[in-house]
Amino acid sequence: MAWLNVAHRKLVKLAFAVFTLFGIISFLTAGPSKPTRIQHNFQRKPLAQSARQHAVKREFYHAWTAYKDHAWMADGLMPLSGSRKQQFCGWSATLVDSLDTLYIMGFDDEFQEAVNATLTIDFSGTVGDCVVNLFESTIRYLGGLLAAYDLSNDVRLLPKLVELGNLLHSAFRTPNGMPCTHCKLGAKDVLLRAPNSASLADVGSLYLEFARLAQVTQDDKYMRTVEFLADAFSRAQNQSSIAGLWPEIVIPSSTDGDNGRFAKGNFRYSLGALSDSAYEYLVKTHLLLGKSTKIYESMWKSASRQIKRHLLFRAFIPPANKADVIFSGIATMVPSGDEPMLETRTEHLACFSGGMFAIASRIFNEPRDFDVGKQITNGCVWAYHNSPTGIMPEALTTLPCSTGDGKQCAWNESYWDQESRRPANCLMADCDKYTFPPGFLQVSDPSYKLRPEAIESVFVMWRMTGDEYWRDVGWSMFESIIEHTRSAYGHASLLSTMEMFDQDRYEKGLMVRKVLARRHDDMESFWFAETLKYFYLLFSDPGLISLDEWVLNTEAHPFRLTPGIRGF
Ligand SMILES: *[C@@H]1O[C@H](CO)[C@@H](O)[C@H](O)[C@H]1NC(C)=O
Ligand SMILES: *[C@@H]1O[C@H](CO)[C@@H](O)[C@H](O)[C@H]1NC(C)=O
Ligand SMILES: *[C@@H]1O[C@H](CO)[C@@H](O)[C@H](O)[C@H]1NC(C)=O
Repeated sequence: MAWLNVAHRKLVKLAFAVFTLFGIISFLTAGPSKPTRIQHNFQRKPLAQSARQHAVKREFYHAWTAYKDHAWMADGLMPLSGSRKQQFCGWSATLVDSLDTLYIMGFDDEFQEAVNATLTIDFSGTVGDCVVNLFESTIRYLGGLLAAYDLSNDVRLLPKLVELGNLLHSAFRTPNGMPCTHCKLGAKDVLLRAPNSASLADVGSLYLEFARLAQVTQDDKYMRTVEFLADAFSRAQNQSSIAGLWPEIVIPSSTDGDNGRFAKGNFRYSLGALSDSAYEYLVKTHLLLGKSTKIYESMWKSASRQIKRHLLFRAFIPPANKADVIFSGIATMVPSGDEPMLETRTEHLACFSGGMFAIASRIFNEPRDFDVGKQITNGCVWAYHNSPTGIMPEALTTLPCSTGDGKQCAWNESYWDQESRRPANCLMADCDKYTFPPGFLQVSDPSYKLRPEAIESVFVMWRMTGDEYWRDVGWSMFESIIEHTRSAYGHASLLSTMEMFDQDRYEKGLMVRKVLARRHDDMESFWFAETLKYFYLLFSDPGLISLDEWVLNTEAHPFRLTPGIRGF
């Protein structure tokens, strides 16, 4: 049988040679595989789930055509009445906010048409007496223009970027250099002043857009402003009543070092309303600039330690997807107090922090923070799955676990019955008849405003793990949201995610009676910019807007990262 042996050996040699040759060829043609720092190393292709992807695209198109037909170039469209709404100086917020989503979803003609319309917006000529909301204008208009430019490289957008950038940058022309957050930027010969009180997010989430504007235009004045602002935040970081965190109200009129009054606007701390993106932007600005400056990293390290210690908690809830969950609450610390008091109220707005902790864990090499992000995300997923409509309310209160060992406490039906029946927990008129689902102690704001934060974190978890679990939970969130919000002219906010009623709806030309939540005549531009974009990307190939090549601003507008300058 010697011949077989020889033949076998030859075959093995041949196979080895072919294998080696193939290896060399593929190395030469493809180069070494791209280093991934944030995203999971996806191998299997294709990974788009086309049926789900198309379903999202269909809903976007439904709302977009309604905007085009009924509110073209208005800031917003009202989804029940079909009327127009002006909100942010009338510069077509929905149009500008939607540009990059049109591009990403492959609506090429609509994108060109929308860019052409955007080029006709006269920001500086029409600002007039408008009180410019600096934060919203920066994240929606400037962020939207930057992303449209970064994706399409359409140079016609550059002059618009500079025009709007300069107008918004003029908000920093104050005696102390801190921004005027709500000012008439069009008024001539008026001295602007930084306010005596502003929300943390309004002042603390401007770095990313102005830094990207500086990179794109090569104009250093924007970067100097960003550095000035970051420096003010860094100096004040340990001066608040919880060192490391900034309170939800800050004092921009005071930055000149008089006992750090800047960080003493009040004594409440959270990741939700008023604060949220001020923490998010530490991580994201490090992503954009981290090779050249460590200031965002060092602010994040102090802040994240205190967030974990004082804001995050475990809740007494029925088992959630067999997974441990974490919620974030609101801490109050009076200057003379010993320990911060934690209010265990969690907000939909704070759901973004799951993705924030997960991304930070990779870029700052803190592997345990990945689990923090995952458990925060699962807390939001739990709230979606357990609400009557399948949608998390704007704000809900849970009971904290009282075990105090940092572990998830066991569910106990009789303890829940006893605690949840207390009259103080009942906000509804008729408490006997109406009870919240197990785990929902109070729902102080039951509405749903078409917000993106939960799906944002689910999307980040999918991109970082490649675990299909996240696409499945995301799909069920999508189905619930569409079921309740779809309306004649787009999609409508919900008055309450906690109650449903018999309602007649037209569907595909037929009247049907369904049990649904009550709607409200409002559709914010972030529905187009963020919520539907995150759903779409969740079901698309992971190479589309890779988190290793793009950073998404707090309005989900992707900015291109520059190798060698980005923070990894
Ligand atoms: C946009 O404007 C360009 C230049 O004026 C024109 O060539 C193009 O046809 C326009 N596209 C659409 C979709 O309106
Ligand atoms: C704030 O305090 C933390 C912890 O003591 C320290 O690591 C950090 O450097 C301080 N930050 C500033 C800006 O002084
Ligand atoms: C559940 O809660 C009830 C009421 O507080 C208590 O009496 C009981 O011991 C608890 N059961 C367990 C298994 O902890």
